[in-house]
Amino acid sequence: MKIVHTINELQAELSVLKAQGKKVGLVPTMGALHAGHASLVKRSVKENDITVVSVFVNPTQFNDKNDLIKYPHTLDADCKLLEANGCSFVFAPSVEEMYPEPDTRQFSFAPLDTVMEGAFRPGHFNGVAQIVSKLFDAVKPHRAYFGEKDFQQLAIIREMVKQLHYDLEIVGCSIIREEDGLALSSRNARLSTHEREIALKISQTLFKSRTFAADHSVSETLRFVEESIAAEKGLRLEYFEIVDGNNLQKIKDWANTNYAVGCITVFCGEVRLIDNIKYREI
Ligand code: PAF
Repeated sequence: MKIVHTINELQAELSVLKAQGKKVGLVPTMGALHAGHASLVKRSVKENDITVVSVFVNPTQFNDKNDLIKYPHTLDADCKLLEANGCSFVFAPSVEEMYPEPDTRQFSFAPLDTVMEGAFRPGHFNGVAQIVSKLFDAVKPHRAYFGEKDFQQLAIIREMVKQLHYDLEIVGCSIIREEDGLALSSRNARLSTHEREIALKISQTLFKSRTFAADHSVSETLRFVEESIAAEKGLRLEYFEIVDGNNLQKIKDWANTNYAVGCITVFCGEVRLIDNIKYREI
């Protein structure tokens, strides 16, 4: 495994390998890697000859500057995890390398980016599109891997690929959970022992709501989740929406779609956690 810091260096390495017909998989990350990221890397290693993992805390996607300051930087530990999982290249650029000048591009992925995370984190998805498009341009991968935990991000990246005509395959990978059900997230490390116990209620509520939804309406299911979260002191619901997984718009009736997904964001103390669950899938 090689660690490279510049686009030139990375492209020089990759052009030789691509000329030999090797397929390249890209796993974009912001570091602070855990088993969820490892699952993306493993999948890429299985499906491609070369796997590039980018580790870059992208400043343009943080609408909350405090969040950016607190974001963990753990490159040494990240490299150990990546080497153990078969990564070929770690691409760890500086901010100046990725943004030699300010990126003024404004994307629109409406209606996908106007709801949920897009509504609560203004500018977030524009920043994600800026960095992911720069990574696609730098690496020109055959496939790129993203987790389904960031369900809306995945939908927006698929839309960006369509809009900008990128010639690559986007691979969405299932949420990886702790044994007790909590969705893996770099932010879980910021939970106190007590908060970690309470946070479990989020995934438990989503799982229960899937059973509940089998014989209840969409609005009853929304209320079920809202009330379960409200009943837990220490959790504060930011939003829970049941949407059509293709266009991310709220559904009123299960019959409106064959791909219904419940997306939730909850504050556990100061830590903002997201999760989602599929109710109906084609
Ligand atoms: O999901 C993430 O970790 C980030 O949003 C991504 C896709 C690496 C872009 O910075």
